[in-house]
Amino acid sequence: MNLERAGEFRIGGDLPICRFGFGAMRLTGPGIWGPPTDLHAAQAVLRRVVELGINFIDTADVYGPGDNERLIRDTLAPYPARLVIATKGGLVRGGPATAQNPGMGTDNSEAHLRHAVEGSLRNLGVERIDLYQLHRVDPAVPIEETMGVLARLRDEGKIRHIGLSEVAVDHIERARSEVEIATVQNLYNLAQRKHDDVIDYCARHGIGFIPFYPLKIGDLADSEALKSLAAREQVTPALIALAWLFRRSPVIVPIPGTSSLDHLEENAEACRVTLTARDMETLDVLSRPQPEASGS
Ligand SMILES: NC(=O)c1ccc[n+]([C@@H]2O[C@H](COP(=O)([O-])OP(=O)(O)OC[C@H]3O[C@@H](n4cnc5c(N)ncnc54)[C@H](OP(=O)(O)O)[C@@H]3O)[C@@H](O)[C@H]2O)c1
Repeated sequence: MNLERAGEFRIGGDLPICRFGFGAMRLTGPGIWGPPTDLHAAQAVLRRVVELGINFIDTADVYGPGDNERLIRDTLAPYPARLVIATKGGLVRGGPATAQNPGMGTDNSEAHLRHAVEGSLRNLGVERIDLYQLHRVDPAVPIEETMGVLARLRDEGKIRHIGLSEVAVDHIERARSEVEIATVQNLYNLAQRKHDDVIDYCARHGIGFIPFYPLKIGDLADSEALKSLAAREQVTPALIALAWLFRRSPVIVPIPGTSSLDHLEENAEACRVTLTARDMETLDVLSRPQPEASGS
């Protein structure tokens, strides 16, 4: 199967996963609110994820809220032995997301995080969460304090590994002064490379980097260079962008999301695309952030 070509990453050095994961967020209702409109279709996607050999699923307590975690439990439990489920906490939601309003706020207080972890344990139907990611840093709470809370939850046996989301290198360093950080999940793709420095930092320290929105490359999909590589490999430009992520760094674990069986199968094809050093150079030139023009 092509997925084997993606290789493996060990979360926290001891939890092996295939470097092609699945982001489950799309398996919720409109605005990431409530259960999916088509429950049977969503369950079919999750079952196929496992059949394909994908053993890393990403979710969060705010997807629903709760519905996405419960969907995973109701569809896949008792879980296959090697399946790793990552969830997140630290955000609160008051309603469906809209283009104008994501409908979310942060809460990294100890009371909230304890309540959130208990909820995720119950909703996922597990005794310990494989990877618990702080969804967003709360500006009202020093990250060191938040890491102290997560370290205690880990020591109590409720969490196995700790991750961060949407953070800069400075946050990661501060977090690591309190606890081991196994992964970082930031917005990153071929067209949005703001976190290049975070990836290089993660690679130096053996921290997994989970790029979210791996397919959201916007207008770059229309570039001739990308289209010609896509034609050569007989895939879509978005899949070339996915293949680029695999080669960008060995610590990268993409989690493309979909609610469609066809798209799921298609996305797995990215693992068979082999980009040469020259292709990587072409894509790098195409996508590298331009230096700011200096004012006169
Ligand atoms: N940490 C965070 O703050 C954060 C934020 C956002 C997301 N995430 C995580 O990252 C995961 C990935 O993000 P995402 O799902 O929003 O974005 P994505 O993986 O970049 O793209 C998903 C979108 O692309 C479409 N799509 C997928 N495969 C396709 C294909 N082969 N052809 C055409 N369209 C395709 C999907 O629609 P269809 O359903 O129609 O296929 C969906 O609209 C999420 O599921 C979630 O787990 C984390």
